[in-house]
Amino acid sequence: MLRFKLIPCGMGITVVAIVGAMVLFTVGNAISDDKFKIEQFISPEICSDCHSKIAEQWENSMHNLAHKDPIYNKLSQFLRKGLIDENEIKEADSCVKCHTPVGYVTGFPRKVSDDLSKTAPIATLGIQCDYCHSVVDVKKMYNNGLVLEPGEGEDDPGIKRGPFSDSEPDFHEAQYSKLHTQSNICGTCHDVKHVVFDTPIETTFTEWKNSPYNDSNPENRVTCQGCHMYQRPGVPATGSTNRPENPGSATDYSDERPHIFTHYFVGANANVPPMFNDNTKALMAKARLKNAATISVDKNEPGQKKLKIRVTNSGAGHSIPTGVADLRQVWLEIVIRNKDQKPIFTSGLLNKDRILPENSIVFRIVFGDGNGKPVINIAKAKQVLTDNRIKAKQSVIQTIELPLPLKEGDVISVRLLYRSVSQKILNLIPNETFEPLSVIEMAKIQTKL
Ligand code: HEC
Ligand code: HEC
Ligand code: HEC
Ligand code: HEC
Ligand code: HEC
Repeated sequence: MLRFKLIPCGMGITVVAIVGAMVLFTVGNAISDDKFKIEQFISPEICSDCHSKIAEQWENSMHNLAHKDPIYNKLSQFLRKGLIDENEIKEADSCVKCHTPVGYVTGFPRKVSDDLSKTAPIATLGIQCDYCHSVVDVKKMYNNGLVLEPGEGEDDPGIKRGPFSDSEPDFHEAQYSKLHTQSNICGTCHDVKHVVFDTPIETTFTEWKNSPYNDSNPENRVTCQGCHMYQRPGVPATGSTNRPENPGSATDYSDERPHIFTHYFVGANANVPPMFNDNTKALMAKARLKNAATISVDKNEPGQKKLKIRVTNSGAGHSIPTGVADLRQVWLEIVIRNKDQKPIFTSGLLNKDRILPENSIVFRIVFGDGNGKPVINIAKAKQVLTDNRIKAKQSVIQTIELPLPLKEGDVISVRLLYRSVSQKILNLIPNETFEPLSVIEMAKIQTKL
């Protein structure tokens, strides 16, 4: 198992000589864009020699797939094409800083328009073990302000930072890091701003920071890790479910601890992991979505021409949807049938091309060009035009005007549905047909008058 010890010493000497120079640049130097050498980062495969369970969980997670994700790839190339405005190009090229972070800090790729087929193999593995566990600081809370101090590769792995203060590993050094126990380590990548226009593009961390989960008493605070690194199959670990500890060992041979943080990093993406033959993550995403929200319909009487639907964010530590909330679709599907089973009102039913009708009730963000015109390309986003998403632990009430008054015997069915990317946006990508993205039921209610 200890194959890193087999590396010849000759190499080690050269490496050590370079170490000295690198340390001068990095110690106490708050620059996260430091040019490191690719050899400094140790492959997740090596970590998996000892941390096999953690590595298995992380494999095919959205972090592992951040660079390979076909939806991200096709979309980022599409958005970059044909731009002429220098500021828009800067934004459209910026994606690799988070989606290929090991490549970015080692000098390639620096831009989406670089020849990505030349990306070093280790950098294609996305947000990985040695990247997160080399973090020592955060210099700004958006657009990936992580500051790293990696080791010098397998020969001299350096310090891996984590939640334990009494860890004594045999391969690498270990150090307690408070940052790793806080939402900030996640938040600096999960808040995204336009690099020139400053438009807030993703605000998951800010949404969490302003939510009741960010309790001023640390005992009651639920961090990103408190939900997302407690989830495992059978344990959705959302705000509306129990989040039991996960006793176990950090390696195949170390002592048991009361809680080992899981590394599946599941959000809501049920499409991309199966493209890499991982169905476990898709099931976990569905479990998460099913324990995120509730819906209820206000008491209805025959003769009434209005329907009031309440949607509550009961389980997410941020808005629903969060992240790339301009692409995600969370919507209400409403069907009212009379006592002969005939539909007398519908809303939010996908048509045969899987497109949502214009007047559906969709919770999302719409960006604008600065003059009030909606834009799809985030590179052109100068303003947030609308944002009707459901904040953590809050409810929204939607009032629907009906064409006919409700009658005795009518059956009202309402579902809250989720789809990762709108079909209309996917259809814009030329010569590309993705398998239809799954539509996931988050909540459902049926009442009879
Ligand atoms: C996105 C960043 C990130 C990635 C990628 C990541 N980890 Fe972690 N890991 C963390 C954080 C954060 C914690 C501590 C959570 C806390 O204390 O709240 C942690 C905890 C740990 C621990 C302590 C034991 C435990 O799980 O509680 C080990 C060991 C570990 N990680 C190893 C790995 C290995 C091996 C990989 C790759 C297969 C990996 N990590 C990938 C962020 C990451
Ligand atoms: C030779 C086995 C071995 C290898 C390879 C290995 N580790 Fe560890 N690691 C350990 C042991 C043992 C512990 C201590 C576990 C404990 O204290 O419960 C540990 C602990 C950790 C911790 C917790 C540190 C803390 O203080 O909280 C992190 C983080 C970690 N390893 C990351 C990594 C990463 C990243 C890699 C790959 C670059 C890696 N490990 C490779 C054996 C290994
Ligand atoms: C109280 C539990 C909880 C906390 C705390 C929490 N989340 Fe979530 N998260 C969820 C649930 C439930 C979902 C699925 C519903 C949804 O998509 O919003 C989710 C989904 C996500 C998604 C996928 C969203 C999408 O639709 O694409 C991301 C990304 C995410 N969380 C990141 C974070 C980050 C980063 C933090 C900390 C700043 C955090 N979460 C804190 C429960 C939580
Ligand atoms: C280096 C930047 C970076 C850091 C640090 C980071 N993330 Fe992420 N995270 C990403 C990117 C990029 C993606 C999306 C990849 C994709 O969809 O192609 C992602 C995806 C996710 C998802 C899956 C979302 C979905 O739609 O299913 C979850 C959950 C998540 N991150 C949680 C966390 C948590 C918790 C932490 C802190 C422990 C964290 N992230 C730290 C960049 C980061
Ligand atoms: C500061 C970090 C950061 C930067 C820069 C960034 N992203 Fe992301 N990206 C994320 C995170 C975090 C997620 C996960 C959010 C979620 O799941 O909703 C994500 C998710 C995505 C997804 C969803 C993928 C899927 O499979 O559903 C797409 C598409 C995407 N990003 C495109 C881009 C493009 C295009 C750019 C550059 C113009 C970019 N991103 C720049 C952090 C970043």
